Amino acid sequence: MKFFIDTADISEIREAHAMGMVDGVTTNPSLIAKTGRRFEDVLQDICAIVDGPISAEAVAESAADLLADGLRLSAIHPNIVVKLPLTGEGLKACRELTNRGIRTNVTLCFSPAQALLAAKAGATWISPFVGRLDDIGHTGMDLISQIVTIYGNYPSLKTEVLVASVRHPLHVVEAAMMGADVATIPFSVIGQLLKHPLTDIGIEKFNKDWKKVPV
Ligand code: E4P
Repeated sequence: MKFFIDTADISEIREAHAMGMVDGVTTNPSLIAKTGRRFEDVLQDICAIVDGPISAEAVAESAADLLADGLRLSAIHPNIVVKLPLTGEGLKACRELTNRGIRTNVTLCFSPAQALLAAKAGATWISPFVGRLDDIGHTGMDLISQIVTIYGNYPSLKTEVLVASVRHPLHVVEAAMMGADVATIPFSVIGQLLKHPLTDIGIEKFNKDWKKVPV
């Protein structure tokens, strides 16, 4: 399973990358806005650290404008993946970018039907948002299970399942058990995945006992 990091914070990307936890990066307009920096500058910095797919979101309504924005973003670096909204216009832009050999990540997916359409439009990745579904009283992970099953039924569909809106370690563990291709994980959740109280207790005891060993 691949781990992408869901952040535009360069220090978080550096830290997680040093641990070998970053196969790719996803950003979105909200994460970019949080940095207070120019989009292109943030993307250049990320591309200098991570040699993997880096999602940059095209922000426009019409397919023509999404396509133009997508082409502009993909020209920044070969690792840039164009993130597109799951709308009819977004899918048109997805089909066109795919035809031109540019990788896409279709985002804001909340149903298996939407995921099927994105795959037919040739999306490289589909991003179902599990946390936002949980927020409104649904079980976000059920959507992952449905999409993994549907895509598995049709090997001609090449779209990978990228679990997004991850809020806690269980989302990641369940995604792995379901066979999702990727989880895009906030830095804080990577920290939570790492921690176990028995590891901390074990280290403390080993360090204490080590001091008793004659030198
Ligand atoms: C995915 O690409 C999105 O950036 C992200 O996972 C959204 O997560 P949120 O629902 O926590 O904002």
